[in-house]
Amino acid sequence: MSTTYTLDTATSRATPTPAPMKRLTVPAIRARKGGDPLVMLTAYTVRMAQLLDPHCDLLLVGDSLGQVIYGLPSTIPVTLEMMAAHGAAVVRGSYHAVVVIDMPFGSYESSPEQAFASASYLLKETGAAAVKLEGGEVMAPTVRFLVERGIPVMGHVGLTPQAVNALGGYGARGRSQAEAAKILDDARAIDRAGAFGLVIEGVVEPIAIEATRSVDCVTIGIGASAQCDGQVLVIDDMLGMFDRTPRFVKRFDDLAGRISAAVKAYAQDVRGRTFPGPEQTYAPKD
Ligand code: KIV
Repeated sequence: MSTTYTLDTATSRATPTPAPMKRLTVPAIRARKGGDPLVMLTAYTVRMAQLLDPHCDLLLVGDSLGQVIYGLPSTIPVTLEMMAAHGAAVVRGSYHAVVVIDMPFGSYESSPEQAFASASYLLKETGAAAVKLEGGEVMAPTVRFLVERGIPVMGHVGLTPQAVNALGGYGARGRSQAEAAKILDDARAIDRAGAFGLVIEGVVEPIAIEATRSVDCVTIGIGASAQCDGQVLVIDDMLGMFDRTPRFVKRFDDLAGRISAAVKAYAQDVRGRTFPGPEQTYAPKD
């Protein structure tokens, strides 16, 4: 059963309202190749989706939610059910951006048929428009299988976090000639297989630029280059929710600091019995 409907953006209550405008489509995103940069951010919850949606072309329900929301050590333990629950929330909270949902580790690698079953489950449960999967040449037949069956696919090459155990960490890729050539081959293979977009993560800039120029699909950079067709960041990183920020992240706020200050003020008011005050308490009727 689909769980998609639009929330009233004025409240936190689930009040369906007419969508104020038409949602962008995958072909419209694909047509932006070489044009105005595409804006993409991760979103995992309904309220955040509401806040990001008017400013974004794409919202990514990233499997980074494993670390960001659940405090897991990597994206590897993330399940299809976790992705479905957060994906449905993000679709409910948005009406404009194309919502792309990550295929979690173990849900697509063993065969194209496994990938189709997982992707169709995610799209049915969430109402998202597209799936994203990690991997290069080896995943190209799977990308083609999904695309030929009506599922828009975004690829993900370079630093692929689901392969952290094989890569040995989250360091930038493409520093050696062999690694650079592999990233370019991977990008071209996923493009030829029919992906509409490609995340290029943690790659030295000249390789990201060359990959962008040598594929027809739109490239979305993260730790890559401003010359990509668009950019994505993990929302909690760019808002300054964590103490540690990767080199490629620009902090646009210090939300952690502001939340701490607000909660400290609340704790002081509670302990000083100045909250709740007359404005927040109910007087008896005369
Ligand atoms: O899971 C995620 O958030 C991602 C982005 C980092 C691209 O894949």
